Amino acid sequence: MGTLASIFAMMKSSIFLSSVLFAWIRHANAQSALREPTNFTLTGHITPDQLFSFVYVPFHVSAEVTSIYVLQNYSFKGAGNSLDLGVFDPHGVAAINSETGYSGSRGWSGGFRNNFTISASDATPGYNAGPLFPGTWNVVLGPYATNRSGIDWTLDISLAYSPSSSPLWTPSLAPIYKEPLPSTTPWKWLRGDFHMHTIYSDGRYLPSGHIAHAISYDLDFIFFSEHNTDSGNNNIGRWIPANGSDLLIGRAIEVTTRHGHWQAIGLERSQQVEWRYTNSSDDTGFVDAATQVRGSGGLVSINHPFQNCSRCDWTLDWDHNDAIEVWNGRFDPLDEVAVKFWQGELAQGKKLTALGGSDAHSPPDINGLPTTVVRATGEKSQASIVEGVKRGRVYLVEGPGMDIAFGVVYGDGGRKIKAEIGDIVPKAALSAGDAYASFSATGFEGAHACFVSEKGYFHNVSIVNAQRIQQNVAGMDFVMVEVRNASDVLLGLTNPIYFE
Ligand SMILES: *[C@@H]1O[C@H](CO)[C@@H](O)[C@H](O)[C@H]1NC(C)=O
Ligand SMILES: *[C@@H]1O[C@H](CO)[C@@H](O)[C@H](O)[C@H]1NC(C)=O
Ligand SMILES: *[C@@H]1O[C@H](CO)[C@@H](O)[C@H](O)[C@H]1NC(C)=O
Ligand SMILES: *[C@@H]1O[C@H](CO)[C@@H](O)[C@H](O)[C@H]1NC(C)=O
Ligand SMILES: *[C@@H]1O[C@H](CO)[C@@H](O)[C@H](O)[C@H]1NC(C)=O
Ligand SMILES: *[C@@H]1O[C@H](CO)[C@@H](O)[C@H](O)[C@H]1NC(C)=O
Ligand SMILES: *[C@@H]1O[C@H](CO)[C@@H](O)[C@H](O)[C@H]1NC(C)=O
Ligand SMILES: *[C@@H]1O[C@H](CO)[C@@H](O)[C@H](O)[C@H]1NC(C)=O
Ligand SMILES: *[C@@H]1O[C@H](CO)[C@@H](O)[C@H](O)[C@H]1NC(C)=O
Repeated sequence: MGTLASIFAMMKSSIFLSSVLFAWIRHANAQSALREPTNFTLTGHITPDQLFSFVYVPFHVSAEVTSIYVLQNYSFKGAGNSLDLGVFDPHGVAAINSETGYSGSRGWSGGFRNNFTISASDATPGYNAGPLFPGTWNVVLGPYATNRSGIDWTLDISLAYSPSSSPLWTPSLAPIYKEPLPSTTPWKWLRGDFHMHTIYSDGRYLPSGHIAHAISYDLDFIFFSEHNTDSGNNNIGRWIPANGSDLLIGRAIEVTTRHGHWQAIGLERSQQVEWRYTNSSDDTGFVDAATQVRGSGGLVSINHPFQNCSRCDWTLDWDHNDAIEVWNGRFDPLDEVAVKFWQGELAQGKKLTALGGSDAHSPPDINGLPTTVVRATGEKSQASIVEGVKRGRVYLVEGPGMDIAFGVVYGDGGRKIKAEIGDIVPKAALSAGDAYASFSATGFEGAHACFVSEKGYFHNVSIVNAQRIQQNVAGMDFVMVEVRNASDVLLGLTNPIYFE
């Protein structure tokens, strides 16, 4: 038997209001294959003024450790207090080290889990399996709500030394999602959903559940988007859809900050995105993270900016995003606020793509409600879908069986040209006359089409299935269409065609 490890944990209060915990843990060397786990408990107190900050709790991991188990508990859980949970390995507590590009983040489960295990070959969803690098690890605690007396917290940590060494971790070489061969058409409208959650963060869906539903809705793509963790994106290869489906599964993260949520869409495997910043004017955290995501080929979309949930309302920068989620799940009055806000931005000359997102976490929520339809050129791939969104080639419908065809037809030297959603048409071409917007739709019986320009609604007309509606668009900066039913609920929305 090996010697028992000796553990010293000590709390120190700094002269500041914050309290910081230092733990020194000395391990005896493993002498035997049957070594007992090293169990120890770290405790501390978080004061109410530390709300929305992040508290790092260091602990030492020796080279012999083969699995790490952490169990969190705290006072007045669900009764005024709420404490998020995550962990960083010895590569540091930055989500991305700007020099090495390496991330120390090994997972995040927010307030959804109270414990996790990480080993070389396996990890609790939300956390990443892989080498247990020896050195200082940090549990991160994120006070999300504190009552007047603050939060007393406890971490029970168990470091195990498995005699049968776990299989060495090697990155899977299996394709993470299926990319069919280049399509023969130059472009194609692809139906999908950029926003959903699974057990890899705070959902109860397995990826397979979302995939089965997406296939039943005839979606062409879905993006999993867990809160502040790449763990789902890294594991999704296990759920490559069967049955000949060519559903494309893209990688996204819902970057969940204390000042609103945003969607980092089109990420690489293992790509992490920083989420710990504030809305203070000297904090460049959001702009830096957004720049990093866009620089690596992804896009930035502000999620449900006016949603009425704790810390959901967007108070970060409004000018470093490609898109905005104006329709989150079932259309409601706060989505209406987002649609009106977005149209106001367009009227001021901004080009910003409106997206939908189901935000489906658990049954009975479903993905594809609403459905986001993107015009992708070339091969069907994560990159071509991201490019379509960046170019504004997007419309939204409530669900299956609903479709929209919208364009602007204009003459160019005797030739008729059809501009698609997202395209920019020279104003000169409109003034030449006989230019019109053309709209037709299926699946919207009894609803009406509302044409919108920078001046607001200018033409409402009842929709007859598949029948074309033409409308003059001379003198406008853009034109787009909303589809609404008799209760004025939005059932469809196009992005604009711009005139410059
Ligand atoms: C150490 O903690 C682990 C995980 O909670 C537990 O299974 C094990 O029994 C503990 N061992 C000892 C010696 O307390
Ligand atoms: C968790 O902490 C609370 C308050 O600190 C305590 O009452 C409770 O017994 C703890 N639960 C466990 C399982 O240790
Ligand atoms: C806050 O903590 C105190 C103990 O300090 C407790 O008695 C009280 O119930 C808690 N208040 C709320 C609103 O949760
Ligand atoms: C650990 O988390 C799982 C769910 O992730 C939960 O079912 C289990 O009860 C937790 N363990 C403890 C000791 O709280
Ligand atoms: C494949 O299709 C069969 C028959 O429709 C169905 O029973 C099965 O669950 C499907 N498998 C997957 C992985 O979707
Ligand atoms: C927002 O939520 C609060 C508390 O749940 C509620 O009182 C308020 O009416 C809600 N506002 C809107 C616009 O839904
Ligand atoms: C920053 O966030 C806080 C809390 O969400 C909010 O009260 C404040 O108005 C925000 N500041 C700005 C400039 O948006
Ligand atoms: C057109 O429809 C919109 C949305 O329902 C409504 O706000 C607007 O007043 C309508 N305009 C006309 C001219 O009917
Ligand atoms: C309008 O659409 C909403 C959402 O699908 C639906 O709940 C409502 O019943 C519809 N209203 C009418 C009059 O069809």
